[in-house]
Amino acid sequence: MRLWSNLATASSLVSLAAGYVVQKDSTCTLYPESLKHNGEAIDDAPSIHKAFEDCGQNGRVVFSNHTFNINSVMNTTNLNNCDVSLQGELLFSDDISYWLSHSYSVVFQNQSTAWLFGGNNITFRGEGGWYNGNGQAWYTENQNGSNQPGRPISITFINSQNVLVDGLTIIQPQFWATFVSYSKNVSITNLFVNATSNDQWGTVNTDGYDSWNSDNLLVENAVITNQDDCIAAKGNTTNLHVKNVTCYGNYGMSIGSVGQYPTMPDYVQNVTFEDVRCINCQEGALIKTWQGVSDNGSSNGDSGGGGSGLVKNITYRNFELTNVALPIQISQCIYSEDGQSCNTSKMAIEDITWSNIKGTSRYNIATSIYCSDVHPCPGLKFEDIELQSLNSTLGLPMYGTDIQDEVYQCTNIIGEDDSGIPCNRAAPDNYGQTVSTNVKDD
Ligand SMILES: *[C@@H]1O[C@H](CO)[C@@H](O)[C@H](O)[C@H]1NC(C)=O
Ligand SMILES: *[C@@H]1O[C@H](CO)[C@@H](O)[C@H](O)[C@H]1NC(C)=O
Ligand SMILES: *[C@@H]1O[C@H](CO)[C@@H](O)[C@H](O)[C@H]1NC(C)=O
Ligand SMILES: *[C@@H]1O[C@H](CO)[C@@H](O)[C@H](O)[C@H]1NC(C)=O
Ligand SMILES: *[C@@H]1O[C@H](CO)[C@@H](O)[C@H](O)[C@H]1NC(C)=O
Ligand SMILES: *[C@@H]1O[C@H](CO)[C@@H](O)[C@H](O)[C@H]1NC(C)=O
Ligand SMILES: *[C@@H]1O[C@H](CO)[C@@H](O)[C@H](O)[C@H]1NC(C)=O
Ligand SMILES: *[C@@H]1O[C@H](CO)[C@@H](O)[C@H](O)[C@H]1NC(C)=O
Ligand SMILES: *[C@@H]1O[C@H](CO)[C@@H](O)[C@H](O)[C@H]1NC(C)=O
Ligand SMILES: *[C@@H]1O[C@H](CO)[C@@H](O)[C@H](O)[C@H]1NC(C)=O
Ligand SMILES: *[C@@H]1O[C@H](CO)[C@@H](O)[C@H](O)[C@H]1NC(C)=O
Ligand SMILES: *[C@@H]1O[C@H](CO)[C@@H](O)[C@H](O)[C@H]1NC(C)=O
Repeated sequence: MRLWSNLATASSLVSLAAGYVVQKDSTCTLYPESLKHNGEAIDDAPSIHKAFEDCGQNGRVVFSNHTFNINSVMNTTNLNNCDVSLQGELLFSDDISYWLSHSYSVVFQNQSTAWLFGGNNITFRGEGGWYNGNGQAWYTENQNGSNQPGRPISITFINSQNVLVDGLTIIQPQFWATFVSYSKNVSITNLFVNATSNDQWGTVNTDGYDSWNSDNLLVENAVITNQDDCIAAKGNTTNLHVKNVTCYGNYGMSIGSVGQYPTMPDYVQNVTFEDVRCINCQEGALIKTWQGVSDNGSSNGDSGGGGSGLVKNITYRNFELTNVALPIQISQCIYSEDGQSCNTSKMAIEDITWSNIKGTSRYNIATSIYCSDVHPCPGLKFEDIELQSLNSTLGLPMYGTDIQDEVYQCTNIIGEDDSGIPCNRAAPDNYGQTVSTNVKDD
């Protein structure tokens, strides 16, 4: 009752509203059901659907400054000329068994999502509000497992054109935080993602941003804390511009993984990552492809290989790295680190530039650039690369090795002498995404 009377002073109209959407002209303002039900966490997804039905065409949807309980999946797609303002909290339920069996498929890697969002000419602005995925329940339940079927992507922008998402904050995402799929001209600016676990389990697979089958994309001004890719351009991402991003503890700026499916070639072209900071990351600037032989496993998105395609014209510019384990990597066998099939990858990689990459590596490793025998890489270029191990900047030796200087590991680079890459070792054929020791042998 107390909550109700607070609200009544805010707006007496609300008590008359059906489904708890108040419509005035073409603006639908949402209030949570909990206000009418003594704070009970009643599902607000039905009212949200109603608001988008009533105001999703040539209108405006406002989530007022309250906590909304999202207990069921949302599909707010086919919007047209719509502006969305998020002023309250979207609190997703932690009913894991519900989400496992109801999340919407996004097709790619058999993954799924809690919210499908999209349409044409849309703005979505976080205006004081945020998305709370209640991810701790997932981190704890998943126990460091990978790609659990049904574990939902927080929000998927799908079949969309001309979309601006500004000021979106996602805390404790359930899985990947944002995914852009089958879309064109989608800009995400001032994005904040924080997945942090409070128990012994990590926040595995909480990518900040992934794109797939999409063109003409922007990510600008983002701060992302998580335990997987900070930003990843997956298959058929073209003309992606990423600018001014700070990554904490994650896997940095990534192309891939690509080459997973023999029947679906991946083309990734014209991607620029610039003005990036990576702090305590596992990786900084990387390209990861599957091996050329399909492993025929059956687990959710974690098996595959044998896909072909092209990764071309990728630029990593102005990176400041702090204590990054593997600053620069190309791997053509990212998930088969057994040294058996690295040389088989069918993905071609060409015209990749790393420019003005500075800072500290965790180990004595600056690069591992491993191109396959099938597709040695032409057009790789280093400009102004200054990497030093963290220990050497502190006057401390690298432990358990005679190699105190940075190693630049390279295999199968075409035109190595013109590349500017100071290769001084062969790249190993058994690096995955995580390295945990210095290079030891000379
Ligand atoms: C989502 O809603 C749209 C209609 O707006 C419909 O065409 C589509 O099939 C729905 N998607 C799913 C996965 O239910
Ligand atoms: C885009 O939508 C806004 C309202 O959300 C409208 O004012 C504008 O005219 C639309 N633009 C186009 C090109 O339809
Ligand atoms: C939302 O309400 C809280 C207090 O209930 C207030 O501190 C905050 O400033 C409000 N946010 C906006 C965007 O009005
Ligand atoms: C891209 O989308 C933005 C809205 O975010 C719009 O202002 C712009 O006109 C669109 N560009 C094109 C080429 O349609
Ligand atoms: C992310 O959340 C954790 C836990 O609440 C907090 O310690 C950390 O400072 C947050 N990171 C950022 C960048 O705000
Ligand atoms: C789970 O992963 C986290 C983060 O990588 C790690 O710190 C932790 O030791 C792992 N937990 C267990 C029990 O293996
Ligand atoms: C970079 O992004 C951060 C975080 O969103 C923002 O605070 C800062 O103003 C941005 N810097 C520039 C130069 O736009
Ligand atoms: C990428 O696009 C090509 C067509 O250009 C298509 O054949 C292929 O299946 C697409 N790949 C994926 C992963 O969707
Ligand atoms: C890459 O960018 C160039 C120059 O803007 C453009 O001509 C080309 O079509 C783009 N490639 C793709 C695949 O979009
Ligand atoms: C490479 O991609 C960048 C955008 O990332 C674009 O500006 C440039 O024109 C492209 N170059 C070629 C040769 O396509
Ligand atoms: C694909 O996901 C569904 C549920 O989303 C799950 O039942 C099925 O086992 C998954 N398939 C694989 C190969 O993991
Ligand atoms: C850096 O120096 C510290 C202190 O001697 C040592 O414990 C640590 O193992 C060194 N780090 C590496 C990567 O060698």
